[in-house]
Formats: sequence, C-alpha cells, structure tokens
Amino acid sequence: MNPFVFKNPTKLVFGKGQNEELANEVKRYGKKVLVVYGGGSIKRNGLYDHVISQLSEINAEVTELAGVEPNPRLTTVHKGIELCREHDIEFILAVGGGSVIDATKAIAVGAKYEGDIWDVITKKDTPSSALPFGTILTLAATGSEMNAGSVITNWETSQKVGWGSPFSFPAFSILDPKNTLSVPEDQTIYGMVDMMSHVIEAYFHHAENTQLQDRIMESILLTVMETAPKLLSDLNNIEHRETILYCGTMALNGITQMGLRGDWATHNIEHAVSAVYDIPHAGGLAIIFPHWMRNSLDERIERHVQLATRVLGVDPEGKTDREIALEGIDKLSAFWTELGAPNRLADYDIDESQIERMAGIAAENGEFGNFRKLNKDDVKKILTEAL
Ligand code: NZQ
Ligand code: ZN
Repeated sequence: MNPFVFKNPTKLVFGKGQNEELANEVKRYGKKVLVVYGGGSIKRNGLYDHVISQLSEINAEVTELAGVEPNPRLTTVHKGIELCREHDIEFILAVGGGSVIDATKAIAVGAKYEGDIWDVITKKDTPSSALPFGTILTLAATGSEMNAGSVITNWETSQKVGWGSPFSFPAFSILDPKNTLSVPEDQTIYGMVDMMSHVIEAYFHHAENTQLQDRIMESILLTVMETAPKLLSDLNNIEHRETILYCGTMALNGITQMGLRGDWATHNIEHAVSAVYDIPHAGGLAIIFPHWMRNSLDERIERHVQLATRVLGVDPEGKTDREIALEGIDKLSAFWTELGAPNRLADYDIDESQIERMAGIAAENGEFGNFRKLNKDDVKKILTEAL
C-alpha cells in the first residue's frame, strides 16, 4: 500500500435517539447560529421543529437559509455567506442531505474568506480558516457528513466542481436513523447507488498489498447489497435505515482510501452531466459506471475479477478473466436496475446533442482518472455507449 496519513476530526454522533444531543453539541460553539436546510422535507417530517426547540433551549439566536437546491448552487452559497456576515454568525448547522451539507461547507469557508469563494472552489486559492459547522444528516448517500468534500454548481459557467480543505470537515455530525425514515423511495435508491459507487471508485486503484482495505470495501458493498432490497420493501424499517446510514458514512469518510488512490473518473464525468442537465447525482452514476468499467478492462483486470467473484457473485469456473469481469459488470448493472435506478441517459431524455460539451467539461483540465487515464474522446465514447 502507499504510505499515508489519516486524520478525520469529525465527531460522529450516531444512532437512534441521538437527535437529542443537538443542544449539547451546538452550545460549545456560540449562540448566533445559521441553520441551513433544503426545500422543506425537514418541515414536513418534524425535524425542523425539533431543531428549533433544541436551539431555543440554549437561547440561540437563529438565522435561517432555506431552499438549498439538490446540486447546490453558488448563488445560494453567496447568500449564506452574506447572512453570516450580516448576522455575525458564530456557528452553522446544516440540516439535510449532501447538498445542504456541501453548501454549508462552502458558506463556512466563504464567510472567513475575503475574496470570492468560487476561487477556493476552483482551486485558484486556498483558505486558511472557516466558521465551525455541524450537521444533522437526513439522507444516507454522499458521506459529506464525515468528510471534507463539497460539490458546488455554478450555473453561469455550467461547472459542477468538487473541492475540499482541512477547514471543511464538520465539527460534529448527528446521524439519527429516524431522520431518514421519510426519504422517498427514489432518493433511497440513489443514496445506495451513490455509496456503492464511492466504494467502487476506491476499489479501482493501482496500490499493491491492500488486503484489509479490499475486505473493508467488500464488506460495505455486500452489506448495502444485502440490505437494499429489504429496505426498499419496508422503507419504515429503522434497523435497515440505520444499516444503510452507517454504510454511507463508512463508504466515504476516508477509511476505505487509506494507502490507496481510487479512480474517481466516473464521478467527474457524472458531475459534467449534471452540470448540463441537473440530474440526480447517483442516477448519473448508475448509468455511467458500468460503461466506465467496460472501458477499463485492460487496466489491472484482476481488480475487476476480484470484485466480480468476491462481491458480485460471479462463479469463475471455466471462464476467462475477461468473461468473469464482464459478467460482474452485467450483474452490478442489473442489481442497480432491479433496485429501480436508471440505466440509460435516455431515461433522463439526454441524447447525443450535448455529448461533445459534457466531454469537454469533464476533460477541461486534461486527462483524468487515477486507475485509467481518460481523455475527452474516451469520455465521448463512454457517454455515447450510455445513451
Ligand atoms: O431539499 P429537501 O426538501 O430537504 O429534499 C431533499 C432533496 O430533494 C430530499 N431529502 C433529503 N432528506 C430527506 C429528503 N426527503 C425526505 N426526507 C428526508 N429525510 O432528497 C433530495 C436530494 O437531496 P440531496 O441533498 O441533493 O441528496 P444527496 O445527499 O444525494 O446529495 C447530492 C449532492 O451531493 C454531491 C452530489 O454531487 C450532489 O450535488 N456529492 C457530494 C459528495 C461529498 N460532499 O463528499 C460526494 C458525492 O459523490 C456527491 O458528488
Ligand atoms: Zn457520489
């Protein structure tokens, strides 16, 4: 494996009943609190009332930023930064899914940054501080609750950019599975595809001697695959919600990536697609990932074979490595389709007209992908095959 340093400062407050810990956690950071949330799901499921009552217990002065969009926008981040300055905010609380948390990360860093936060997001500059922020996660998917990553969309330039910094880790994240009971079926499916994709991105790497990392990744994938059908037939089952919630966090909190560098090209391609079409992140991943895999068979095929045999249930008897790998990809794709995820770009009414543009966005900084290097033509091929 590669030498590595691991540091994750986020305090994870996990499990049934942990919503009650909110006041205790927030009071360490100050009284002037900006509460950031999305389009209203937290008002419908009662979480908003709970948050406000916990904050009033500690006499917090609450300012709100509502309406963070799925695929959160730079304009919303700018609004949040203004609110922080206007109200002298001391602490930000994100209550929502990955989009709300990602926007909050940019607001927290942006509030302490003198220039335009877009320069930090696009890596023209590095930040040196941030307001402290915490999260209450409501959707098991991105892992944003316990990592430093954030993905922000700039509609003016059609860019959806991932960034992160040592200052964009949440101070704490409360993960109470109760908060995910109201997640509708489609978002539940997307969440499970997203967390599996995070593991699969990491699984395709060039490091040697990664037995433990491989086993950790395989157990996350197997746990999601075992639990997904059960959860989808019983969306109110708190035990299955809890299992999936834990899987989502473990899939992208850095544990799987110690000592190795995953590929991440599929995420980059998907971000280019959602920068143009504003589709759900994991809907795009479910469509693109199998095609990326088919286009990567010549790179360390043993990684494909190991995934196919250990996780995807392929019997290797009498088959070539290529046959095993291809059967594994078909099984993964079929699994996602059976869950209810889309499997063609046409499912989102995407045709060939914007492929050139999306490939250009994905490859705008040159070749990318750590397992297999892709150029613009490779992306065009993958997207065309995914039509
Ligand atoms: O806005 P509200 O009304 O809250 O509704 C949301 C939204 O419509 C709804 N929802 C969330 N919790 C709910 C709920 N509905 C009912 N009950 C609940 N408890 O679900 C919808 C989608 O929410 P969103 O936050 O957009 O989903 P997700 O968590 O999948 O986040 C997606 C974003 O994260 C980025 C994606 O690119 C995308 O922009 N990613 C962030 C990563 C990171 N920070 O590490 C990594 C990922 O790979 C990903 O790229
Ligand atoms: Zn993702």
